[in-house]
Amino acid sequence: MNADIVIKNISQLITIAGENRPRIGKEMSEIGLIENGVIAISNDKIIYVGQGELPKEIKVDDNTSIIDGAGKTVTPGLVDPHTHLVHGGSRENELEMKLNGAKYLDILKAGGGIHSTVRATKNASFQELYSKAKNSLDTMLEFGLTTIEAKSGYGLDTETELKQLRVAKELHKNHPVDIVSTFLGAHAIPMEYKENVEEFIDIVINDMMPKVQEEKLAEFCDVFCEDGVFTVNQTRKILNEAKKYGMKPKIHADEIEPLGGAELAAEVQAISGDHLVAATEEGMKRMAENSVIANLLPGTSFNLSMGKFANARKMIEMSVPVALSTDYNPGSCPTENIQLIMTLASLRMKMTPQEVITAVTINAASSIDRQNEIGSLVKGKKADIVIFNAPNLSYIIYHFGINHIDKVIKNGRVVVDNGKRI
Ligand code: NIG
Ligand code: FE
Repeated sequence: MNADIVIKNISQLITIAGENRPRIGKEMSEIGLIENGVIAISNDKIIYVGQGELPKEIKVDDNTSIIDGAGKTVTPGLVDPHTHLVHGGSRENELEMKLNGAKYLDILKAGGGIHSTVRATKNASFQELYSKAKNSLDTMLEFGLTTIEAKSGYGLDTETELKQLRVAKELHKNHPVDIVSTFLGAHAIPMEYKENVEEFIDIVINDMMPKVQEEKLAEFCDVFCEDGVFTVNQTRKILNEAKKYGMKPKIHADEIEPLGGAELAAEVQAISGDHLVAATEEGMKRMAENSVIANLLPGTSFNLSMGKFANARKMIEMSVPVALSTDYNPGSCPTENIQLIMTLASLRMKMTPQEVITAVTINAASSIDRQNEIGSLVKGKKADIVIFNAPNLSYIIYHFGINHIDKVIKNGRVVVDNGKRI
């Protein structure tokens, strides 16, 4: 078989080889490291992964592009399973409010926070939302992300929710980064429904969901289950209805207050429970029993100065599969930089470099149901590959705040070279 691209002499080739399922406990440290690694690609697929020289059956000719991996670390394309990619406006006005002691949920209650992004998103045209999200997607790609999840939730009315999801669908078609969509119509209670939450929930279920399904706009459904937002009972109701429309549940669970979001994630068999900063041990236990992935977002704890991070060590010890995400959004975590999140996970949640890379590859892919196509470097999987200008994995995490990317290969094509989108 002819190779289109070969990367050889790779200092550290991190394959994450193994079963196509979320890794738990000690498995999160088994990263399939190969020194002096070689990897071959044909079209959009990986055709060989190994050590030293290519075997004879893999043919190299004048059309094969050979990349020297000396001094480099190569990993699967990174996956971000929790973002709020498509939105209007920005919220730097909240910085001083926060410095003066305002709390995230108080800003929200007063009609700011998510509500101010809702206003900006309603006012933005499809094209404006598209261009803004495309710029962010380019940045994400330059940081090594090749697949992301994107949520709606800044419309809170049918028309705007659909507009956001249509933007994500169009970007998925046109941009190298693959986008998996989540319907988050229940992201906040619109100010005008404050006294009438059930009526709003009725709109989410009976007006938004059928339309989302009709246009095939979302594979997952998420709810912000939080004090002053949606209760556990309301979240359960919304997610059970979502299942009838073919959407798999996710939950913004126990982000700030321990409401029982982790327990609910287990009960409704969510694919992931996200945030979990305030999750109880009982909640973690039930998540482990039900194979619900803990999607942790340390950038949010950092940016909200919460003084608390999710207890990743406990979760790993209890065999809850852990994934990591940026949570990219204009309020609680305005960054597209997954490498910074990897550093925060390590320094603030005490995850080892091996656990961190597992959390942003196979476990992240599993948390959007893409574990069979991406998340590890093995024969037959998609050629989504990242080449870091770093001699080893630890270096990427240790030397923080900068972009270590040399090249990104997406679907077998080099789309970032020298750290820049081409
Ligand atoms: O994941 N918590 C709810 N949603 C986002 C923040 C959204 C916003 O502040 O705009 C989160 O933190
Ligand atoms: Fe979020």
